[in-house]
Amino acid sequence: MEGLRNNLPLPLTSFIGREDEIAEITGLLEEPHCRLLTLVGPGGIGKTRLALEVAQGLVNPEMDASTEPLFPNGVYLVALQPVALPDDIITTIASAIGFEFYQARDPKAQLYRYLAKKCLLLILDNFEHLLDAIELIEELLAKAPQVDLLVTSRSALNLVQEWLYHLEGMAYPQDGPIDAPEAFGAVQLFVERARRARHSFSLVEEGKHVIQICQLVDGMPLGIELAAAWLRRLPCDEIAAELQRSLDILESDLHGLPDRHRSMRAVLSHSWSLLSREEREVLMKLSVFRGGFRREAAEYVASATLQNLSTLVDHSMLRLTITGRYEIHELQRQYAAEKLAERPELETAVRNRHCEYFADFMDQPPINLVGKRSKETMQALEADIDNIRLAWNWAVGQTRIRDLHRCIETMYWFSWFRAWPQDVKRAFRQAVGALRVAEPSQERD
Ligand SMILES: Nc1ncnc2c1ncn2[C@@H]1O[C@H](COP(=O)(O)OP(=O)(O)OP(=O)(O)O)[C@@H](O)[C@H]1O
Ligand SMILES: [Mg+2]
Repeated sequence: MEGLRNNLPLPLTSFIGREDEIAEITGLLEEPHCRLLTLVGPGGIGKTRLALEVAQGLVNPEMDASTEPLFPNGVYLVALQPVALPDDIITTIASAIGFEFYQARDPKAQLYRYLAKKCLLLILDNFEHLLDAIELIEELLAKAPQVDLLVTSRSALNLVQEWLYHLEGMAYPQDGPIDAPEAFGAVQLFVERARRARHSFSLVEEGKHVIQICQLVDGMPLGIELAAAWLRRLPCDEIAAELQRSLDILESDLHGLPDRHRSMRAVLSHSWSLLSREEREVLMKLSVFRGGFRREAAEYVASATLQNLSTLVDHSMLRLTITGRYEIHELQRQYAAEKLAERPELETAVRNRHCEYFADFMDQPPINLVGKRSKETMQALEADIDNIRLAWNWAVGQTRIRDLHRCIETMYWFSWFRAWPQDVKRAFRQAVGALRVAEPSQERD
């Protein structure tokens, strides 16, 4: 049977374990009353990956032809982590499901009207920073009675309609003699990722230390992946010892942090310390991007060489997707962004470079905007829409008039192409407001 409509990304790495969780979550989605299910847990615990795995099962169900699919109109991932403003949620959902607005007025009402007749699942991924927008969730549930929401978030939404699923780390052996460590999800994940770093890796020889590492990171999949990537530089026993040391250091610094956060922090800080000065500097600068980036952008904004990027991929600090874009895990991005924030002057300089790069990217010759090439141009712009929004907002905040000017025409055409005039009107209004308050002596073009 052909799979249902979806926009699910192809996974870059294998998925391990979590059979019980998948069955439980799928079971909850089958319940008619469960229309808003939130997977809650700390950063790096595996919420996004699990939601995607559940979604894959719904899109390609193992069933005979007579069984009705649960969501006949499809399953869609709405990546919210790069979305800064609640107002952008509507356009991000529309983009994810491939809905095009047909008129300028009231995009929200248009989207609701469309969804009212659909029976589909939206995965709202990384919702934690948009909790101010929860009325929108209530509204969506009311206006689209056959749409279900699977949300991933580091904290609960606290809506009456919400069903909560608290996600724990992956299973690992506790103390005592262990007969079959390979039966535990956390150990399987470590071994699988370790073999990528060192193909001769053997659990038989390293079992004791692998178990220790899984215990130290409390079964957190992101922690396990990062620790396994260190095998390029350290033997397994040293990884365990280093992790223990980082934890001890953090113990005194981070009193009051829950264990799981502390163990993840220990992994992040040790991964950081394994990078060279230059690689750290690059990663720090790359943290200004939103929604990933292309190599040319990294070169300009972060002075990243191909060698730097490859090393960061090798250390599992970056991922290279099949579309050729680089992505950084949100938790790792936040860690690197904290480091950048410790150097405000550098941060401003990098943000200026980011703004300049995307203003240049927006400054397209007219032939690319309205001619035969327009579709291609618009698709390229759409892939970087989160960076463009960020650059625009930075230009407005810093009254970078020349950069704003370079964006305007493309913004206008883009708004027609995507039929997002509300978005663009708001952006223009912000810019006009900023220009009004700008001193006459400030940059002018
Ligand atoms: N069951 C699994 N099998 C293989 N890899 C996994 C599994 N669960 C998580 N991972 C990997 O661990 C990392 C962290 O997982 P994920 O991104 O899903 O965490 P998260 O809870 O969504 O974090 P955040 O709150 O920061 O978004 C990812 O690289 C993911 O691919
Ligand atoms: Mg996530």
